Amino acid sequence: MPTQALEIADLKRLAKRRVPRMFYDYADSGSWTQSTYRRNETAFQDILFRQRVAVDMTNRSLATQMIGEDITMPVALAPTGLTGMQHPDGEILAAQAAEEFGVPFTLSTMSICSLEAVAEKTTRPFWFQLYVMRDKEFVSRLIQRAKDAGCSALVLTLDLQILGQRHNDLRNGLAAPPKVNLSTIMQLATRPGWCFRMLGTQHRGFGNIVGHVSGVDDLSSLGAWTAGQFDPRLAWSDVEDIRRQWGGKLILKGIMDPEDAKMAAKTGADAIIVSNHGGRQLDSAESSIEALPAVVDAVGSDIEVHFDGGIRSGQDILKARCLGAQSTYIGRPFLYGLGAMGKPGVTRTLEILQNELDITMALCGERDINDTGLHNLVSRTVPAT
Ligand code: GLV
Repeated sequence: MPTQALEIADLKRLAKRRVPRMFYDYADSGSWTQSTYRRNETAFQDILFRQRVAVDMTNRSLATQMIGEDITMPVALAPTGLTGMQHPDGEILAAQAAEEFGVPFTLSTMSICSLEAVAEKTTRPFWFQLYVMRDKEFVSRLIQRAKDAGCSALVLTLDLQILGQRHNDLRNGLAAPPKVNLSTIMQLATRPGWCFRMLGTQHRGFGNIVGHVSGVDDLSSLGAWTAGQFDPRLAWSDVEDIRRQWGGKLILKGIMDPEDAKMAAKTGADAIIVSNHGGRQLDSAESSIEALPAVVDAVGSDIEVHFDGGIRSGQDILKARCLGAQSTYIGRPFLYGLGAMGKPGVTRTLEILQNELDITMALCGERDINDTGLHNLVSRTVPAT
């Protein structure tokens, strides 16, 4: 099977056939009309490389760093909710694949496998993503648990204080574990392999939450608790508080505007991620790649700039690098790999991207990813700052 997956779209097709609809759709949806979700992908196509020839292309290297950590290519696995519903033990399998590949894995607060479960099955530190929640004691305990699990960076998400509506999730009756009704039974009955594999794991609810918040033990209490937790009063002072409590490497996720980027740089965080949450929050926002140059222009010399949104190929990774991102994150591409074939699927995702990135860099006349930059792009196709 792995040899048949030549590009990310192959893994996507396979995942769609294997993962129950409510979970496939959860990963693959944007908010409202999904225009920003689509634009994240399509905007890359307008940016063009300069092709160079008669340049020595031997001994190429994609190795670089993110927040001082060595990585084998400029890619990290983004925090994605419900990853353990794309495939049983999904977070553990994805973390192991990332670890073997030499790229960072970020565990979402809304993961199925808990911080402790992932730490137990991995050998290198992973990163943990946090929301600013109303229950400050729960947040403090989560921060402590991330420290105890040996996490080497905290990724603080700033763009989800109110949930952008995703129509598919409402229509599909999304819940983890699934609620029992005729529609969900039909969704599960058509994916017997997934159901069978799911019986083999204990990880079927929100592992970081259930058992850690009093009174939250069944689906309806969890749903009510979660909905009430995202804190619409989030301010920059909360970021400072969390930075102090955490005391380690901090990455701020969800920055699209140069003014916000300047505020983020002032907090003393180590990096920001230019991200519109995969088009899942503000629909009709610009794509992440269109937003990147202005953010780099505003703060690129003050703070490390990372990028996510719409990456589906190694070419996209190189374009983000050329526009000033130190590194990138992938969400859906690794979820497709995971849903398609578990851990080997995540590895396949990384191999596909690595191979595309390597060859593209060579055809641009570069041998070291750290030497790539604006000079590799056709200047009239670069988004304005
Ligand atoms: C959570 O981060 C989501 O986008 O669903």
